[in-house]
Order: sequence, then C-alpha cells, then structure tokens
Amino acid sequence: MGKPRVVLGVSGGIAAYKACELLRRLTESGHDVRVVPTASALHFVGAATWSALSGHPVSTEVWDDVHEVPHVRIGQQADLVVVAPATADMLAKAAHGLADDLLTNTLLTARCPVVFAPAMHTEMWEHPATRENVATLRRRGALVIEPAVGRLTGVDTGKGRLPDPAEIFEACRRVLARGVTAPDLVGRHVVVSAGGTREPLDPVRFLGNRSSGKQGYALARTAAARGARVTLIAANTGLPDPAGVDIVPVGTAVHLREAVLKAAADADAVVMAAAVADFRPADYAAGKIKKKDGEEPEPVVLVRNPDILAEISADRARVGQVVVGFAAETDDVLANGRKKLRRKGCDLLVVNEVGERRTFGSEENEAVVLGADGSETPVPHGPKEALAEIVWDLVASRLE
Ligand code: CTP
Repeated sequence: MGKPRVVLGVSGGIAAYKACELLRRLTESGHDVRVVPTASALHFVGAATWSALSGHPVSTEVWDDVHEVPHVRIGQQADLVVVAPATADMLAKAAHGLADDLLTNTLLTARCPVVFAPAMHTEMWEHPATRENVATLRRRGALVIEPAVGRLTGVDTGKGRLPDPAEIFEACRRVLARGVTAPDLVGRHVVVSAGGTREPLDPVRFLGNRSSGKQGYALARTAAARGARVTLIAANTGLPDPAGVDIVPVGTAVHLREAVLKAAADADAVVMAAAVADFRPADYAAGKIKKKDGEEPEPVVLVRNPDILAEISADRARVGQVVVGFAAETDDVLANGRKKLRRKGCDLLVVNEVGERRTFGSEENEAVVLGADGSETPVPHGPKEALAEIVWDLVASRLE
C-alpha cells in the first residue's frame, strides 16, 4: 500500500506559517502531502517553501498542468483533505460550494474526510454568517476543529487562534485511522473530567494523587475528532490544551463537582476519568503549618468528599445521558469493578488494574469496559487513545 495521500489546503491568514510545521509532521510520519494554497496564502508563505517541504509542485490555480486535470484529480485521489488555516472566507466558500481556485475545486471533488482548522479574529468566528457556515460543514460530515483561545494577530486576544500544529496533526491522524467521513459525535456535547484533585492542607501543601490526566485528554481529543463539542474539566494536569476543546481548570474535588454539574446540564455524555480524592482535610490552615520543637505533629483529620459519579448517575441532567466512570483496582479487578458499577449507578465503567508501574503517567493502558447491561469489552494493552476510541464507540451506540 502506498503512503496515505493528504491534501493540505492553506488559506490566506497569518497562521499560514504554522501550517509549515503541520506539513513537516505529516511528511515525516509517512504521508504524501500535496499543498494547495490559495493566492492570498502565498502573501504569507511563498510557493517555494510549500514545494520544498512537500516535495511536490505547488499551484493555486486550475490553469497549471491542465492536461493532468488537477482541479478534479487532486481531490479525487486524496485520503484526507485538511485546510489549515481555514479563513472565514474559505469556510464560506466551502459551505456554499464555490469553486474559483484549485483549493475550492479540490474541496468539491474530494470524497474523503475533510478537516478544517479555522483561524480568524474572534468577531469573524462569532459572526452569524460564519456560525452558519461551520454548522453546514459539520452537518455534511466535515470535522471543523474549534479554534484555540489566545493571542491573535495584533495585540488582541480571544477565540480564533489556529490550534497548535501538533494538535491538528493528531486530529488528522485519528480521522485517517478511522477512515470515516461522518464523525459520529457531531451535534453531541460531551463532558470529560481528567487529572487528579488536590485537597489543600495549608497554602503550600495538599493531598493529591498520581493521575497524569493523559487518559482524560485522550478522551477529549478523540471526542473532538469525532465531531463532539467537548468540555474538558482538568484537575491539575499541566498538559497542552487539546485543539477544539473547552477547558475548565479546577483544583479540588468540590471545584470539580461544581464544574461537572454545570457542564453536565446539557451534556449527552459525561466521562469521569479524573481521580477524585475521596477525602479532604477537615480543616484548612490559612497560614503555613509550622513544626514546633519538642511537639508531635497534629494528626490530619479527613472528611468525605462528595461522590460526583454516583451523584450524576443517580440524578441525570438529561434523559438518555450516558455516564461513564473509571475504576482503578489492584486486586479482584473484575469482581470489584462489577460491584463498583452497581454502587455508582453509571452505564459504563472502565476498569484498569493499577500498581506501582502501571497506568499512572504512562502512555498506554489496558482495561475492561463493563456495561450496566452486563456487557464486558476487553481493551488490549495499547495507547490511551485506543481505549478512548472504544469508550466513544460504546457511548455512541448507547446514544443512538
Ligand atoms: N469518583 C467521583 N467522586 C469521588 C470519587 C470518585 O466521581 N469522590 C469517580 C472517579 O472519577 C471514577 C470513579 O468514581 O470515575 C471511581 O473512583 P474510585 O476512586 O476507583 O472509586 P471509589 O468509589 O473511591 O472506590 P474505592 O476507593 O473503594 O476503590
């Protein structure tokens, strides 16, 4: 089998320079990339750069190499088309089927998955015209990644930044691996909690746990790539923000609970991947706790934290909302998992075996997903993303 063929469409925004990095990642990971810039994109990055980095000639118009019928061929032969950056103008043209240059012709002839990574000023992104164009593209099965929030071209900041090229690359890789043209979570809102809560003792100390947040981030990324609107409630993770995901940072279990309940109000699914502390110190010392010569330390008294998973499972914010929990077990993994599933009342429970060197902080995972309907889905040892895809498969089948 030959290399997967990717068309990288580049439209005319300052973020075009970041598409060079995306191009590098795609070519270095074994993709055959054809760059199709618009004429305006060439004001930002010249044809020589695209041609040198891709190893293919670059043209913006349908009139070059007419004997090869490029305006039809490039789109027809592609396994994936990704447009990064996609300007407001490009989204409008794509939504309305205009075909006045090579890129817009390619978009009309492509029958493969199409990913748009928009970048523009916040006002343009929020304009009803753009909103409708994005909705149209999504309805037709394109993956439109939400822009990132941050510094824009000038001094202003807001939503509209091109997501990190590494994140766009990940989205492309996943779409290619799944080989689907219609992402199955389009129109769905999903909430994922990730990381581990920290329960403060005083301003400098806390009770915490070793959860890295990687599994929750993998869930958020894969859901976004499958078209969902994703709210990621991140407890003390320090990981790069996934593209196209709304992130709510939290610290303690109580904060996490508030954020989850708020986001869950209109969610189709809630996945509790965060390691929530079961207990918190009964008292918080406003000043740093000092050691005193000749005195033993005071014991730390703990109180129970609310069980968020049990609460949202018992009191569903929406009819048909799917609730997923995670369980980390060291012994009798399946039996304990079944008991926990019943106790928590969720629809699915992902049970991992943990130990000193297993799961925490690693890139890989192995699990069994137990269903309240008695189902048991083993997930072989593999990347956290593979487990995430299986979780979304099971969620999507319950949402249908
Ligand atoms: N969880 C939660 N709220 C808590 C504790 C846990 O929502 N206060 C969620 C976690 O996000 C996870 C699931 O419950 O999805 C399982 O957590 P776990 O700590 O394994 O279960 P516990 O009920 O604490 O059981 P035990 O400590 O006895 O294993």
